[in-house]
Amino acid sequence: MSSGTVTIAPLRRQDAARCAQIERELFPGDDPWSANAFRSELDNGNFYVGAYVGDALIGYAGLGLTDFEASVHTIAVVVDYQGSGVGKTLLRALLAKADELGLPVFLEVRTDNERAIGLYLAHGFEHLGVRRRYYQPSGADAYTMGRPANRD
Ligand SMILES: CC(C)(COP(=O)(O)OP(=O)(O)OC[C@H]1O[C@@H](n2cnc3c(N)ncnc32)[C@H](O)[C@@H]1OP(=O)(O)O)[C@@H](O)C(=O)NCCC(=O)NCCS
Repeated sequence: MSSGTVTIAPLRRQDAARCAQIERELFPGDDPWSANAFRSELDNGNFYVGAYVGDALIGYAGLGLTDFEASVHTIAVVVDYQGSGVGKTLLRALLAKADELGLPVFLEVRTDNERAIGLYLAHGFEHLGVRRRYYQPSGADAYTMGRPANRD
């Protein structure tokens, strides 16, 4: 595991290429997003945060927003920093935004991704159903999970 102070800040457009590189490392069999995909996410009013050590991007997470709901579009932490609380911090940044807007949050996660499922269950998500062969080209199944709107 690597060390260094991790800061969370809005994801920058100039990080798109690095995000795509991290995607290829973490999601090789599941159609990793391109740099252009990240640029259009940022251009389309979604809420994205990055985790930085100095100027280096070591993780990112993004929330799609409509007037009615939010959805976790992506969350990822580079291998060297996994298991040190960065993913939890990124997810909490997304959930704080959803709570500020009073929106429920939905997501899909591979049914074999125990770490991510554990993270979501610990943050108020429940299983809603299974989407068969949701991920391509791997053909892996996904759970749909949801977290009610926090209207406090
Ligand atoms: C999933 C991912 C974002 C989590 O980020 P992380 O920085 O590794 O996770 P954290 O260190 O913040 O741990 C957060 C929580 O995950 C859960 N968790 C961690 N390791 C786990 C394990 N081996 N089994 C089950 N749950 C686990 C726990 O709830 C943990 O909280 P706790 O430490 O309070 O118990 C990260 O591992 C990752 O990028 N994985 C590859 C990409 C991916 O799968 N993204 C999710 C797609 S839906």
